[in-house]
Amino acid sequence: MRRAGAIVADTLDLMVSLVKPGISTGELDEAAEAHIRGVGAEPSFKGYMGYPASICASVNEEIVHGIPNGRVLEDGDIVSIDCGAIWEGYQGDAALTIAVGQVADDVWRLLEATRLALMAGIAAVRDGARMGDVSHAIEAAALERNCEVVREYGGHGIGATMHEPPHISNWGPAGQGIRLRAGMTFCLEPMLTLGGWQTRTLDDGWTVVTADGSRSAHFEHTIVVTREGAEILTPWRVPKRDGGER
Ligand code: MF3
Ligand code: CO
Repeated sequence: MRRAGAIVADTLDLMVSLVKPGISTGELDEAAEAHIRGVGAEPSFKGYMGYPASICASVNEEIVHGIPNGRVLEDGDIVSIDCGAIWEGYQGDAALTIAVGQVADDVWRLLEATRLALMAGIAAVRDGARMGDVSHAIEAAALERNCEVVREYGGHGIGATMHEPPHISNWGPAGQGIRLRAGMTFCLEPMLTLGGWQTRTLDDGWTVVTADGSRSAHFEHTIVVTREGAEILTPWRVPKRDGGER
């Protein structure tokens, strides 16, 4: 799983380096698939429940599961890239939201809030903690930065399959839920908005958008529970505001 996660992280770093005004989401998908296959892994999304591509690319008010196409990214857009790979039967799954060119201050606040909500969730992970502690930490970090948490989607267990129980809520009370044990592997993936939490799915059957058209961001890591905390298995580099990494 460590190797699968590293391949996903490298693919996302590649996406960050490619995202600029003028590139299409379809071109990003082609580059991601070529990279994943080039290192001898398999893109887990392709063919998953009939999904047609190797990444999800969700622009602006699109939250998750946007299908890559000819849409050209413009200055001021944000694009969430979700990516999965399989290495020797094991899965990695991660996502991040990238600013295209220069974005408005409140949009950058949304991206930082979502990334920090993910990191707050990870910081709550340790052997003996409860999953509700993790969910609550994510929600608190989001609300602290005046963002709303999408309620109908969340994280999941992962291993030899991409989606395993349990479903992991990005909101809710601490002190409840399953007890975490060292060695458990799962994905945390907060989705935040600058407006309301309600969603709608487009006619393509995949693309989930905010009901109010507000912008949304999505950051995800695959992690393993350790005695002291958590190890991130998909260590993508944090994108900078003006493109590139930091
Ligand atoms: N990676 C997404 C998740 O985090 C799932 C993508 S499903 C696909 O759970 F069909 F789009 F591949
Ligand atoms: Co996931």
